[in-house]
Amino acid sequence: MSSPSGHYPIEAREGEVERLTVQSAAMAPECEVMLDRIGVGDGWHCLDLGCGPGGITELLAKRTGATGRVIGIDRNEAFLAEARKFASGTVHFRVADVYETGLAAERFDLVHLRFVASTAGEPERLLAEASRVTRPGGVIALQEPDGSTLNCWPPNAAWDRLKAVLLGVFAGVGADLTLARRLYSVVRAAGLADVQYRTFIVAVRAGDPMADYLPSTIESLRETAVRLGLVSARELPGLLEECRAFLRQPDTSFTMYTVAQVWGLKP
Ligand SMILES: C[S@@+](CC[C@H](N)C(=O)[O-])C[C@H]1O[C@@H](n2cnc3c(N)ncnc32)[C@H](O)[C@@H]1O
Repeated sequence: MSSPSGHYPIEAREGEVERLTVQSAAMAPECEVMLDRIGVGDGWHCLDLGCGPGGITELLAKRTGATGRVIGIDRNEAFLAEARKFASGTVHFRVADVYETGLAAERFDLVHLRFVASTAGEPERLLAEASRVTRPGGVIALQEPDGSTLNCWPPNAAWDRLKAVLLGVFAGVGADLTLARRLYSVVRAAGLADVQYRTFIVAVRAGDPMADYLPSTIESLRETAVRLGLVSARELPGLLEECRAFLRQPDTSFTMYTVAQVWGLKP
């Protein structure tokens, strides 16, 4: 594929597949609630745009059954190779640009995007492409974060510093980690009907699979963080170590970013 659109800042480093897989597992129960509300069922044709190493494709495959079909699109071939290892028979993956998929028009019953519009940018353009490939009466669903609720207890200086670096990197490349706040209005402005809105926050304690979220995300943003002058290559290892030591303390807990789920019908 030629160079894809958007400005997704996360590096495809070793460990990134695991980071996204752990995040998907932690958010699966809340994703199931949204898919229940949408009513995804037998025989649906679904598309997960920017699915990474699997995204929600397996949750969709379970619901759509043997007569359904699920397609995952991403620009990162290594992610898709990983996704294929665990995919059910009705799930297929393709390397393509999410802003210009090249898929036939009006083909899907459901088109879903999670953490793509906020990180890669241009939500309106993504919604236009999602709408183009959705059949009239089909559903378009987005899940996007608000990073301001990424808060720990007890207070910790290394955590605060890494949180500032994380938010700074995304802001610095033009991504929007507050997209959750305006997502409902963005989706309404795209012309979808019967737009629905819910939010959730995952809570994490020391020892939980998500406990390493902040340090591991910073590792995936390392080059951009240093390039933007948000942290020096010299300071970073010490900060990561200090934060990880804090996250191992049995009393440590934190809340993740708030996730907004917004979905509506293509007229
Ligand atoms: C934060 S990850 C989320 C992955 C998945 N949706 C999930 O929630 O687990 C964003 C994904 O979007 C993909 N991506 C970013 N810009 C893209 C583009 N222009 N075309 C295709 N994929 C893109 C990245 O490769 C990455 O896998």
